[in-house]
Amino acid sequence: DAAALQGLRRGRLRIAAVTTTEYFLPDLLGPFARGYPGIRIDLAVENRDAVVARLERGDDELAVMMRPPAHLPLARWPFLDNPLVMIAPADHALASRRRLRLQDLTDEPLLVREKGSGTRAVVSEVLAERGVTWAPRMALGSNEAIKHAVRAGLGVAVLSRHTLAADPATEGLVVLPVTGFPVRRQWFLVWRQDRALSLPARTLLDDLRQRLGVRVRPG
Ligand code: PGA
Repeated sequence: DAAALQGLRRGRLRIAAVTTTEYFLPDLLGPFARGYPGIRIDLAVENRDAVVARLERGDDELAVMMRPPAHLPLARWPFLDNPLVMIAPADHALASRRRLRLQDLTDEPLLVREKGSGTRAVVSEVLAERGVTWAPRMALGSNEAIKHAVRAGLGVAVLSRHTLAADPATEGLVVLPVTGFPVRRQWFLVWRQDRALSLPARTLLDDLRQRLGVRVRPG
């Protein structure tokens, strides 16, 4: 109807997404953005704790994250696999091994994301689950900073496979064949069930559902 059309001619859509999604979310928004040029899109890219704080305040209509918080009334839609891999510099001595155990790596400096990062939380969780003591050597505030530090030989790290090029060697990096890796996680699209979704938000969800009917995996 006319009112509905009016709602899509002009408007605003606020989305919050955790940092790793910056490698693919802008592409996913492309068709919607081109289809509805009158809708202004604000995409906030922050770590997991900051995205949760935004959801608590109701800053955004939609959010993307690995671990939706249990204390908010959220609808959640799993929409993309997020395998987490162990990376090292391409010329690392352990890179030629066919298989490694997590325990073989604990003499290497471990680089992790900043406090508040969901990726960092998963790394602590995995180490605890497997009974491995491995204190982080350094915390860095972005996935790119970690990749550069690993390439520079400062240590090894666990990052989303989505942060890496199809062939990590082109970035001077290698994915180590560690038992129990990749760690399988997924991203959810979430929204607050106690608030009505705007027409732009519903339209974007429909668009993503149609195009991602099958969940996408990284190359
Ligand atoms: P983050 O992302 O490490 O940038 O907080 C975590 C997530 O994917 O939820």
